[in-house]
Amino acid sequence: MQNHPKERLYKILVIGDLGVGKTSIIKRYVHQTYSTNYRATIGVDFALKVLSWDTDTVRLQLWDIAGQERFGNMTRVYYREAMGAFIVFDVTRPTTFEAVTKWKEDLDSKLTLANGKSIPTVLLANKCDQSREVVTNNGLKLEQFCQENGIAGWFETSAKDNININEAANFLVKHIIASENDILRSVVPDTISPQLTPTKEISCSACFKP
Ligand code: GTP
Ligand code: MG
Repeated sequence: MQNHPKERLYKILVIGDLGVGKTSIIKRYVHQTYSTNYRATIGVDFALKVLSWDTDTVRLQLWDIAGQERFGNMTRVYYREAMGAFIVFDVTRPTTFEAVTKWKEDLDSKLTLANGKSIPTVLLANKCDQSREVVTNNGLKLEQFCQENGIAGWFETSAKDNININEAANFLVKHIIASENDILRSVVPDTISPQLTPTKEISCSACFKP
């Protein structure tokens, strides 16, 4: 059977504490720019990245959520119908790593996929241009940390030097597509599932906990 090109649209959250580099990572990924100036995001910002994925087109709608929003009451609204997430911390500030579990708990308590699983999440150890040894010395621990916290994997990144941002995004997209297929299998009996392709309704099947 011929595979027809598909259009996929995924909402992706970018969360993590204040000043860890969420906006910078998105600007680097989408616009190939970087600035040393820090202007805290207020509420949420958006960006769109379009990728070719085999014969398909993948549109990533990136939700850049301000670090201070963890203390607000809007994250439930922002998380709605997201299909994947990056949680970012700053390798030079240990408190931002401690906040990773808090962000993950906030995410899991407010959003699950239609099959009850949490959305694919990738951890970004950002600003690795400043302190490579922090991550190198803790690499094994980070692997274990991800497993224990239901995180698909981690990357050391630098928005400044453009390190690993494309790689991390491709890794997340792969996991999103796998989770989408997982949802399809749980919705459609195996015998007929090979003939079906994900529909928009099913690709947006993250549900909103009251
Ligand atoms: P909020 O919007 O307040 O939640 O912060 P944010 O996570 O969006 O941080 P932002 O991207 O604004 O970056 C904060 C500061 O860190 C800025 O001064 C950036 O220039 C700097 N920064 C971001 N990424 C990197 C990086 O990879 N390396 C270095 N050295 N600095 C970075
Ligand atoms: Mg920001």
